Amino acid sequence: MSCFFTLGIETSCDDTGAAVLSGEREVASELLSSQIKDHAPFGGVVPEFAARKHLENILPIVDAALRMAKITGPRLGLIAVTRGPGLMGSLLAGTETAFALAQAWDVPVIGVNHLEGHLFAPLLDSDLRPPFLSLIVSGGHTEIIKVEAFGHYTLLGATRDDAAGEAYDKAARMMGLGYPGGPEIDRLAHGGDPCAFEFPIPLKNTGKIEFSFSGLKTALLWQINKLKNSSESLPLADLSASFQMAVTEALIAKVALAVRQTGIKDVSVSGGVAANSALRASLTDERRRWRAHLPRVSRCTDNAAMIAMAGRNAFMRHSDNGGRTPFAPFAPDPSLALS
Ligand code: KG4
Ligand code: ZN
Repeated sequence: MSCFFTLGIETSCDDTGAAVLSGEREVASELLSSQIKDHAPFGGVVPEFAARKHLENILPIVDAALRMAKITGPRLGLIAVTRGPGLMGSLLAGTETAFALAQAWDVPVIGVNHLEGHLFAPLLDSDLRPPFLSLIVSGGHTEIIKVEAFGHYTLLGATRDDAAGEAYDKAARMMGLGYPGGPEIDRLAHGGDPCAFEFPIPLKNTGKIEFSFSGLKTALLWQINKLKNSSESLPLADLSASFQMAVTEALIAKVALAVRQTGIKDVSVSGGVAANSALRASLTDERRRWRAHLPRVSRCTDNAAMIAMAGRNAFMRHSDNGGRTPFAPFAPDPSLALS
């Protein structure tokens, strides 16, 4: 029996990813070239530099992913590529490559919303199907989405200011740690006391599904300045553990609220911050009134397997609906909304 293969391409920010999916969700190959080391000296992603690096990396990575999956380009059923949101230059590198390959191999190409990709990441390893709630916590987004059906998404609430990952990165910078800050704080927090400093849990009791991390950041800065005036070295482990606990509690409070408001008890969590060990432990605590569905840690951050699965799912949906072509030409869109 011949199988349907999807090539996923992800280049929305600073990771160049390619993956081959066999059928609905069997990952035949998956490769990622991270630019973290290239951008680390600048303390964040430099957009022009990221786009150039994608152009260098993309073809060798696609080629290697196909070889690992033991197929050739023309045997693909679909190319799924991230269309947005993300950095314009980075998105262009991915979409232009996808169009060129699609034409050369005579394969359809579909544009995928990066957030829909994150939403699919836990499903690569789980039988979860709608309806469910999805918490997306990444460097650019912090939001809770109600997934009524695939393709039918309702935004229940989002951050008023920084995304959770952005807050981690900025907090790490204040503490003199490297980029990206989330993994560093997570690592340091293991040796620290989460009750050492009492940081505010932002918007905990507002009764609305919303997030804010700027006040928490200011509280951390204030604490750091106070400590710098009184001691020689910062208690990094205690600061990390206490900051991490405040972020985690803020996220958990709103997941609980969304579960109460909707009555939906399946919650998927994805995006880079879903790799955070405290958040994972808290979400899966057996006393919770929900079932948490988490991607494996390597698929919390940006990857091409999630883009391939989301793209294949949309492609099949449109084919079922009859006639509407999902592979009409499209342009990358840095602020593409999830609708
Ligand atoms: O999903 P992602 O790879 O890129 C975006 O789409 O934004 O997420 C990257 C973000 C960064 O802000 C990074 O600090 C954060 O995810 N992150 C973490 C952890 N691993 C990555 N934050 C907290 N704990 C972690 N273990
Ligand atoms: Zn992402």
